Amino acid sequence: MTNAAPLPYPSGWFCVGLARDVPPGRVRTARLMGEDVVLYRTRRGTLRAVGPHCPHLGAHFGAGGTVRGEDLVCPFHGFAFGPDGSCTGAPDGTRLRAGLAHHHLAERDGVLYVWRGIADEPPTWELPPPVGAVPLAWWRGEVLSHPQEVMENGVDFRHVSVLHGLDTRETAPPEVAGPLFTIHQRTTTRFPGLGAVGLDQPVALAGLGTMRLVAELPELGGRLRVWVLATPVAPWRTLVRFAVACSASAGVPGVLGAAADRAASWVALRAAVRIIKQDRPVLAHKRYLAQPRLVPGERSIGLFRRWARQFYGEEACRAEPRADGAPAD
Ligand code: FES
Ligand SMILES: [Fe+2]
Repeated sequence: MTNAAPLPYPSGWFCVGLARDVPPGRVRTARLMGEDVVLYRTRRGTLRAVGPHCPHLGAHFGAGGTVRGEDLVCPFHGFAFGPDGSCTGAPDGTRLRAGLAHHHLAERDGVLYVWRGIADEPPTWELPPPVGAVPLAWWRGEVLSHPQEVMENGVDFRHVSVLHGLDTRETAPPEVAGPLFTIHQRTTTRFPGLGAVGLDQPVALAGLGTMRLVAELPELGGRLRVWVLATPVAPWRTLVRFAVACSASAGVPGVLGAAADRAASWVALRAAVRIIKQDRPVLAHKRYLAQPRLVPGERSIGLFRRWARQFYGEEACRAEPRADGAPAD
């Protein structure tokens, strides 16, 4: 892309992986906004996210770095760093008078997030409380798009029936509370043996990196939770993760119940992945229009765009449509 991307990277919390991928003793590298982030968990379970390069001579911790007890050890000359970032010494006892800077990290419901602030400011808001379930099925894929465009899909009800063939309606206007944006919608879908089932699904966005859907399944005696996680890895390239936790086995004991939940989660995930695969080519080729020609019934898109402005610095604020759907003056 020769021109600058039409939207810069947003601020907020962005997924860098699942907690299950970083068990004690493991070092992993994630990509976030054109940079590597190295994640590791100490033997006692402390999780850290650091810049990738060792302050000694610049080796990459993700390329051979190891965890020794509570320390992260560089593969090049063996300097070790404790959980507070300070150097605990090389194998011969030499200490480095430099330490590691940590990224702000949060773990919620088995998902790991790193904070990126406007002009490197520390976190100005926290992720919502956990829902109390960890993902049982997951998928990831890259989309040539921006997190704001990915998340805007959630308020674009017109495309849901046309592109995805789903009967989803907005039941009330979205609620805005600082960095949180809640969409109220109802999907009517057919379940084998149950006929048409209406699912009321509040969809909660926390910034532009995470969208969470919790749906009660009274007919199945369960609950469905879906996470849509959008991580900008490069300008106009976003890693989208879908994670699902379905509990459909109320009353089914132990191992059998757990296996039933996992199976139900993978079934639900397949449906979600089918949807993102329909979105992907559209998102990859569409152009970001700062002033789209919205039509009646699309107020929520205007509202979403105005809410999303808070995640950028001053200079990135562009003319956006008014909430009534008319273009900005
Ligand atoms: S570069 Fe890391 S110990 Fe030398
Ligand atoms: Fe979509």
